Amino acid sequence: MLNDMSKAISGENGSRNVIPQHVAIIMDGNGRWAQERRKPRLWGHKKGVESVRETVRSAAELGLKVLTLYAFSEENWGRPDDEVAGILSLLNTFIVRERNELDANNVRLTTIGCLQHLPEKTSKKVRETIDILQNNTGLILNIALSYGAKSEICYAMQNIGRDIAAGKVKIEDITPNFVDQYLWTKGLPDPDLLIRTSGEQRISNFLLWQIAYSELYFTPVYWPDFRKEHLLAAIQSFQNRQRRYGLLPEAPSSMPL
Ligand code: IPE
Ligand code: IPE
Ligand code: MG
Repeated sequence: MLNDMSKAISGENGSRNVIPQHVAIIMDGNGRWAQERRKPRLWGHKKGVESVRETVRSAAELGLKVLTLYAFSEENWGRPDDEVAGILSLLNTFIVRERNELDANNVRLTTIGCLQHLPEKTSKKVRETIDILQNNTGLILNIALSYGAKSEICYAMQNIGRDIAAGKVKIEDITPNFVDQYLWTKGLPDPDLLIRTSGEQRISNFLLWQIAYSELYFTPVYWPDFRKEHLLAAIQSFQNRQRRYGLLPEAPSSMPL
């Protein structure tokens, strides 16, 4: 059943379905998932790692180009110290333990966010994994760590300002494509599909610039319950959307304007 769904989605069964190049996910609901089971919030974060593993695997299998996962926001630093420490410790383990499987699946790793705000031990491990996987040519797994979209845009503005002051660029050079080059997502296509789990319907300071024309998909499923079938359902929903980019839908030629 799941296999049929995968085939339909990837067009293997003869359909012309378009796979989104870039899927971004706001992985939300770990805490509530745990609390509903009368467990500490960290239990939910731990379970969420299994969902990450399965989602990365499925994304690679489906042939996505980029999977961006919102793992930790700039605002999440404000959570209790033990929760922050617990999440960082899970990240430490994940980033080392998954190296072999990511490598075997030809996955490359990139990050967006303020890596320098992470403890040195963690950022070192992240950089090591990036180096190990750097020559892979399959899925780009892009993890948002200590990420905030408003900060990303501010850093871009600061760097553009510096380049103008240094005479390297002119004010008139500033266009949307130009700004893209100053963002942490430089070189990545914008997300085609943005998924948020847990029933919340907000963006929470994620990729504000890059989602200008992304299709949004909200699911009530808590992140620790998110499995391949949920990713496939989101992609199927995406495949039924008509992206218009402000233009008119394609009309049959016989239709009067
Ligand atoms: C998302 O789950 C993970 C992070 C923000 C790190 P939450 O921890 O936000 O879970 P809820 O939203 O409280 O249920
Ligand atoms: C967004 O979830 C951040 C991540 C999933 C990493 P939050 O749980 O932090 O967002 P809010 O507080 O509900 O907006
Ligand atoms: Mg949350």
